[in-house]
Amino acid sequence: MTNQQVPFVQPRQAEQPQAQPSQPIDERLQKLVDKAFYAGGSETAQDLRNFLNGTWLGDPLHAALTDVPLGSWTAAIVFDLLDSVRHRRDLATAADASITVGLAGALAAALAGLADWSDVDPPARRDGMFHGLLNIGATSLFAASMVFRGKRKRNQGRLFAVLGYSVAVIAARLGGQLVYKHRVGVDRTSGQTFPEEFVEVMAEAALENDKPTRADYNGVPILLVRRGERIFALAETCSHFSGPLSEGKLVGDSIVCPWHQSRFDLADGHVINGPAVHPQPCLETRIRDGKVEVRKARKETLPLD
Ligand code: FES
Repeated sequence: MTNQQVPFVQPRQAEQPQAQPSQPIDERLQKLVDKAFYAGGSETAQDLRNFLNGTWLGDPLHAALTDVPLGSWTAAIVFDLLDSVRHRRDLATAADASITVGLAGALAAALAGLADWSDVDPPARRDGMFHGLLNIGATSLFAASMVFRGKRKRNQGRLFAVLGYSVAVIAARLGGQLVYKHRVGVDRTSGQTFPEEFVEVMAEAALENDKPTRADYNGVPILLVRRGERIFALAETCSHFSGPLSEGKLVGDSIVCPWHQSRFDLADGHVINGPAVHPQPCLETRIRDGKVEVRKARKETLPLD
């Protein structure tokens, strides 16, 4: 089933509580960002979020975009250094151009990062806020550097570039912690082991129609959904932040995660709507002797797009 064939699900804007003054600043800020991104709760807003999250890419877009400012600004520092020694016009021009490319990249990375951050839970939420604020600081310092360069005050421009780069490095380190320590953007189903051959996971009679149900294989939870004659099976914990999909909502042949409303196709586990970017592992099912059996889906048995 393709994205175009499944019904649109109104994003969760309507369910969002308003920010309260007693809430932590990161929570209040997150609600405002979330509201801004879901402005109107339209399908277009959801498509924009999907684009910024990287649902279409299969990986977080933000992580890829951050290479642009960091790479460009690293180049700018090197060109500035060489220019300060050799006093060559082309090196100065290269430094200026690198900063400009980095500023454009920082803007794009910030938009993608904000979209991701609006669906990040504590404790990563607070670190994510500081990561963003530091990046705003770094970008502002590089912007100031360009202003000085435009006024032919190159030494001040170089100084502000060094300051901006220092802040950007600290921000990048915090960004790394968000991934390696808090596992933001990491596929939360990674490492789960599913049976290579069919194993029984529950009695067929216990599986109600149109009721997302949690089964278990060796401690790994499995989502089962019976839709008439068909039985679907996916990894039960959401690839985004491990939300319990058996508590999610069925929309046609798709399931919506109860935590941040990622939506997955039951037939093959692909992401229809983010913030998840990684597909849910999919399992094959069959009925034998009144039992539901599952095994890891094989490529040749998955439906074609
Ligand atoms: S845990 Fe975030 S969408 Fe499922």
